[in-house]
Amino acid sequence: MRMYDLIYTKKLGGALSPEQIAFWVKGAADGSIPDEQSASLLMAICWRGMSTGETLALTLAMRDSGKRLNLTSVPGLKVDKHSTGGVGDKTTMILGPIVAACGVPCPMFSGRGLGHTGGTVDKFEAIPGLRVELSEEEFLRSLAETRFANSAQTADIAPADKKLYALRDITATVESIPLITASIMSKKLAGGADALVLDVKCGPTAFMKTLEDATTLAESMVAVGTAHGMQIRALITRMDAPLGWAIGNAVEIMESVEILRGEHADSELAEMSFRLAAEMLIMGGAAKTLPEAQAKVQASIQDGSALETLRRFVALNGGDATTLDDFSRLPQPGQVVDVRANRDGYIAAIDGRALGILAMDLGAGRRDRTDVLDLGVGIRVLARVGQKVAKGDLLFQVMAKSNHLVVPDLYLTTLELTMTQPKAAPWLMATIGC
Ligand code: URA
Repeated sequence: MRMYDLIYTKKLGGALSPEQIAFWVKGAADGSIPDEQSASLLMAICWRGMSTGETLALTLAMRDSGKRLNLTSVPGLKVDKHSTGGVGDKTTMILGPIVAACGVPCPMFSGRGLGHTGGTVDKFEAIPGLRVELSEEEFLRSLAETRFANSAQTADIAPADKKLYALRDITATVESIPLITASIMSKKLAGGADALVLDVKCGPTAFMKTLEDATTLAESMVAVGTAHGMQIRALITRMDAPLGWAIGNAVEIMESVEILRGEHADSELAEMSFRLAAEMLIMGGAAKTLPEAQAKVQASIQDGSALETLRRFVALNGGDATTLDDFSRLPQPGQVVDVRANRDGYIAAIDGRALGILAMDLGAGRRDRTDVLDLGVGIRVLARVGQKVAKGDLLFQVMAKSNHLVVPDLYLTTLELTMTQPKAAPWLMATIGC
């Protein structure tokens, strides 16, 4: 088989066979196919697309490029979640403990942050002592003892994806529905869960800019998961403003704990986390209907069992669980600077991407993979879309290193102010398979 023929076929819009796809993925991972040929095929796939059959074959080949986790030693249906990523997205830290407290094992692998979006692994690392790179034994023990396990993705899960994603990143070939589908689903299938809920973000700063594209991506992932015997559902959620009040690492732990204590119950973050958790309970067999699942979610917040599950997960994996009850023991910023409105108006929009970049500049995120984070810095976003503000109202609190020059105007430019009250847009845009 010649890689040239695969590139030529796809360039003309033809279909690749499962054998050809397996040949490419194996060669890309073991280095026998040069990067320039893989990059060329990736670009051809971006332009010409892939059929469902080809996407399935690509997902399987990438899944089988590494290890597959066997979770069968833990009883019950294991349910995972994947979000296509957003600024301030801390749903994993909220819904994982909820789902586990309701009796459904929740195994999750997460990533570190890069660019304007944060990563769950970095956020968990803000808890002193917590091990975020668990061995397979530690991961299984956490799942068996607390029903919740979260760890950085190990290098032996879908290594072909790691290789191809790095190439996509530098060749402008990330935004392709079959490539995103295979990348995400290969890792999820290798992770060993029986069911998966997807949170597909949609908006001007998300991978998927329109509801049509987000629906196509969600349907593509649902088709691949279903073909491999995985139960799978998707929510398409609006993404523009940051999710919740906190952007940063320690501050996002604080906000997650506050939600698990029952605070901010009417926020989008709480509503979204609770809805995703409810879908997971249905797939895990803990509830038959959405109202029943939602009642269980609420009960786990009211009786404290969700927060207690998070404490047990943290303590079991070496973390200081007292930080969850005493936030002063979490990493702290060197200074806090208030940013106030410089005129009256209604907040029509908040640019989450711009705030994510500002948080990265504070040291909460990485511009480069090798950057070292300051886990105590971040932004408290008090402004809300639709809110009426008067000059002088507090809109942001910037938590910075003591030597960081905070320029309030940079934060104010992330807000769009209007003279008339904007119409609220619901966070849930569509559901698939629910
Ligand atoms: N996240 C992934 O893991 N892969 C993609 O291709 C896009 C987002």
